[in-house]
Amino acid sequence: MVVRLEGRIRSLMALLVCECLCKSIYGLEAQGYGHATVAFPKTTINTIRMFEKTMPPGYTIETDLVIKRRPTEKNKKEWKPRDIEKAFSEHQIVPDVVDDPPVNKSTILFPFNRFPEFGNEMNLSIHKHICWAQWPGTMNDTYTLIYTIPDVPSRDNPTSGEYQVWVVGNIEGPIYMENGTLTEYIKPTHPNGTGLHRHVFLVYKQPFGRFIRFDEPFLDAKTRLDPRRYNFSTRAFARKYNLGKPAAGNFFLAY
Ligand SMILES: *[C@@H]1O[C@H](CO)[C@@H](O)[C@H](O)[C@H]1NC(C)=O
Ligand SMILES: *[C@@H]1O[C@H](CO)[C@@H](O)[C@H](O)[C@H]1NC(C)=O
Ligand SMILES: *[C@@H]1O[C@H](CO)[C@@H](O)[C@H](O)[C@H]1NC(C)=O
Ligand SMILES: *[C@@H]1O[C@H](CO)[C@@H](O)[C@H](O)[C@H]1NC(C)=O
Ligand SMILES: *[C@@H]1O[C@H](CO)[C@@H](O)[C@H](O)[C@H]1NC(C)=O
Ligand SMILES: *[C@@H]1O[C@H](CO)[C@@H](O)[C@H](O)[C@H]1NC(C)=O
Repeated sequence: MVVRLEGRIRSLMALLVCECLCKSIYGLEAQGYGHATVAFPKTTINTIRMFEKTMPPGYTIETDLVIKRRPTEKNKKEWKPRDIEKAFSEHQIVPDVVDDPPVNKSTILFPFNRFPEFGNEMNLSIHKHICWAQWPGTMNDTYTLIYTIPDVPSRDNPTSGEYQVWVVGNIEGPIYMENGTLTEYIKPTHPNGTGLHRHVFLVYKQPFGRFIRFDEPFLDAKTRLDPRRYNFSTRAFARKYNLGKPAAGNFFLAY
């Protein structure tokens, strides 16, 4: 089964799950990049059926499957703003990356149902792509998502940090959608012996739910060693586009 949804369904609380989920959890074959599965609340089945009629041949929408098997986080700890603030300052992401901690948690899903959880250690070997990213918010707002590594080449000597792993702007609603990508995701790696690196996700609510005309070079997945990915500043980026304080975030640690 191949699923591809284009465009935006504003009135529905859609849940985006991408091809690695199809493969690793549902055992389905998804073809190519960006084919995604979107789950809808059960109450909107009729809307989905209607929408299905507009799909090009070869594309289908499978609803029940996704609704039943929506990924769940094993660790159900509730992260209050105070806990998040504590984690961000304990790991010195405040002040190394941002001046203010996010208030809310963003949920990021990697293959094999792995989630960052405010400072857990993760093994980068499976981080071929990101399956899903979501945070509290409304469909009326527009968001910018930044994935940055401040510790490049190492936390002790971050002479080329931050490294921008993934930057997406103009995300309509609190779920990652592919089309506003400014910097394409690439699986990060670190040289041996450079210790633990912080991998930080920050989500900003764009002012007034507006679209931003980003004045950034598009960095595709082939630009791993492009100098423009290095010496990135989340702080300067947020200031340039008047993004204010981060609305949501999360982070993990990796060797
Ligand atoms: C994303 O796609 C939607 C629907 O096609 C479009 O309205 C929106 O402008 C696009 N956003 C960006 C940043 O290209
Ligand atoms: C990461 O995972 C790979 C594959 O499962 C494994 O070979 C490797 O030893 C792991 N590395 C660490 C540091 O756990
Ligand atoms: C979104 O905007 C519409 C139209 O402006 C409004 O009716 C609706 O209540 C808003 N929804 C939320 C969740 O803010
Ligand atoms: C980042 O900036 C530092 C200081 O200006 C410079 O020495 C370093 O080469 C830069 N890193 C990259 C990868 O361009
Ligand atoms: C890095 O470490 C891994 C596992 O510890 C080892 O297999 C690999 O050869 C090392 N690479 C280099 C360049 O030292
Ligand atoms: C944080 O999440 C709550 C809902 O859980 C939401 O009401 C609030 O607006 C969010 N804050 C920000 C800054 O997005």
